[in-house]
Amino acid sequence: MSLALADMTTEVVPPKQRALSPSSARNEYLRDRFHQLRSFTNRLCTGLEPEDYVVQSMPDVSPTKWHLAHTTWFFETFILKKFFPGYRSEIPEYAYLFNSYYNAAGDMHRRDLRGLISRPTVREAERYRASIDSHIDDLLSDADEQLLDEIEPNLVLGIHHEQQHQELLITDIKHVFAQNPLYPVFRERKLRTGAEKVSSVRFVDFEQTMASIGHDGDGFAYDNEGPRHQALVPAFSLASRPVTNGEYLAFIEDNAYTRPEFWLSLGWMTVNEQRWQAPLYWTKRDGDWWNFTLSGFRPVDESEPVTHISYFEADAYANWAGARLPTEFEWERAALDCPIEGNFAEDGSFHPHALSNSSDHRNLHLMFGDVWEWTRSAYSPYPGYRAAPGALGEYNGKFMCNQYVLRGGSCATSRSHIRRTYRNFFQPEKRWQFTGIRLARDPQ
Ligand SMILES: [Fe+2]
Repeated sequence: MSLALADMTTEVVPPKQRALSPSSARNEYLRDRFHQLRSFTNRLCTGLEPEDYVVQSMPDVSPTKWHLAHTTWFFETFILKKFFPGYRSEIPEYAYLFNSYYNAAGDMHRRDLRGLISRPTVREAERYRASIDSHIDDLLSDADEQLLDEIEPNLVLGIHHEQQHQELLITDIKHVFAQNPLYPVFRERKLRTGAEKVSSVRFVDFEQTMASIGHDGDGFAYDNEGPRHQALVPAFSLASRPVTNGEYLAFIEDNAYTRPEFWLSLGWMTVNEQRWQAPLYWTKRDGDWWNFTLSGFRPVDESEPVTHISYFEADAYANWAGARLPTEFEWERAALDCPIEGNFAEDGSFHPHALSNSSDHRNLHLMFGDVWEWTRSAYSPYPGYRAAPGALGEYNGKFMCNQYVLRGGSCATSRSHIRRTYRNFFQPEKRWQFTGIRLARDPQ
């Protein structure tokens, strides 16, 4: 599927000359980053069969094929159509099918009907990817410094955008596979058992302070991480680690799912409507809890961080435990001294690691990776925030309503994607992301 190159410049610089141009290192760097990103997405699909790529198991889930094409559309729309002279889409209809929510970029297909689209086929979607890759490659190879200055912000945004979709691809295929009584395995993985008994959680005290919140402008950040500003963070305590499955089991066994006193009103309504009795993907068999993982169906490991719970469940658990969820400012303040390391998508587990009670003597454990941590902060703009004009201004700002902020990344997030200031957000009833709980407390 080659794309029209009718008006392309005839001055193609041979590779050797290109290597001598002053911007070659930067061209190479951006091309490498782009290719690494794209090949990681392709590697995630290793082992999937064409039938797996097209299922939409609920409106929140997008088919794998759609992720592959939509991320490609993003580069086509915001880079090739803007910066590639004479560029023309070979199949303009893809813009309608693979635009997600950018009204300024034109009309779009209905999100909840993505699973009905059997054409383009998986192979055609892959060809679309390859074609856009090769055009981006040509564009980056030939761009001078001035053009790179213009392209780079959108290219880097496109890279981070696709990393978000890599995470969604993982969580979406998990939801798809979980519907299948055969429980397909996404990745064979040895069971990693944790400590027989996880040491009890500690609470780390933080003094009241005026904290600098938000991204400092050094390197990439989404617009919702700024403007950086001062915020008063009163004294609080933060749990040394996330809540484990074992601890969450105690909440279940205390019949907390049937006791309204722990629940927000909306949460209580949701629990009853949805008949929730445990985290998503948990099933009771012969008296024992099992859960579906991307490595198959297996008994719940009590030493793993609990995951696939809604904000409502996180909040109810905190109430039951005599604690609360942290605010996003408390979390960010506490994360200031924590290294950004942990179990991320690059590790290939796609499941939280069991806690090991290892020799890690830091105060706070597992702030990054494993599970996203719900905060009690509504997702809203920081003081002075204004969404940028145009389609890319729709990236974050228009979702600042009825959602809660999550921090820290998960086992499906790329390590190179997460930051201390990163604000993820979901509606309070969503459970299909790798979401978990870290407790906080007011001064005792
Ligand atoms: Fe997207």
